[in-house]
Amino acid sequence: MNKESLIRKFNKQAAIYERNTRQRRLGEWRQRLLQDVEGNVLEVAVGAGANFPFYQRDKVNVTAVDFSPEMLSRARRMASELGIRANFLERDIETLELPERSYDCVVSTLSLCGYEDPVQALNKINRWAKPGGRVYLLEHGMSTNRFLGAMQHLINPAGRRISGCHYNRDMIHIANASELNIVKTERYWNGIVHLIWAQAT
Ligand SMILES: C[S@@+](CC[C@H](N)C(=O)[O-])C[C@H]1O[C@@H](n2cnc3c(N)ncnc32)[C@H](O)[C@@H]1O
Repeated sequence: MNKESLIRKFNKQAAIYERNTRQRRLGEWRQRLLQDVEGNVLEVAVGAGANFPFYQRDKVNVTAVDFSPEMLSRARRMASELGIRANFLERDIETLELPERSYDCVVSTLSLCGYEDPVQALNKINRWAKPGGRVYLLEHGMSTNRFLGAMQHLINPAGRRISGCHYNRDMIHIANASELNIVKTERYWNGIVHLIWAQAT
């Protein structure tokens, strides 16, 4: 799928993602994952800013990237309502260049499902974070339940076409294949939802 049509798809979903910021269970996972994020924070594929309510506003200075202008305009509004210090870049993560070894923390939630090459995206994150910098991932991927896993394979082609996401990625394999040092993982919802704490190498 070419990038323009992918961006159009995400532009159309921006209002839905803004509403999702109030989704309770997702909110609990975000809270659990993000409670100690601090310093110079890079958030990749920020969407509508759903993670902003879980940052401690006095402790973070956020650089937020997304290629969807509709998502970014909502994220900007969210940051200003919450008093989060943030600057925004309208860029494609897969071609983005940033100074290396710069960020104390990097956050990526519900985004590895969208990239052409998620391992390469994680390797970029690894380079953008300071050595030992903390990396926080909340991703959906292949279930540990075989029936659900089979369903995920089945719906994947339509899901990708409609929403721009892959539904059957093996997130643990992807994380382990990257240059990041995986510190801890937790899985919920029949293993579909992954919380991953990692460190840049
Ligand atoms: C499923 S949404 C998740 C948004 C947000 N992180 C959250 O947790 O609600 C995926 C986001 O990734 C962005 N995205 C996908 N591929 C991207 C890319 N290659 N470069 C920049 N942003 C991308 C989309 O525009 C969208 O905002």
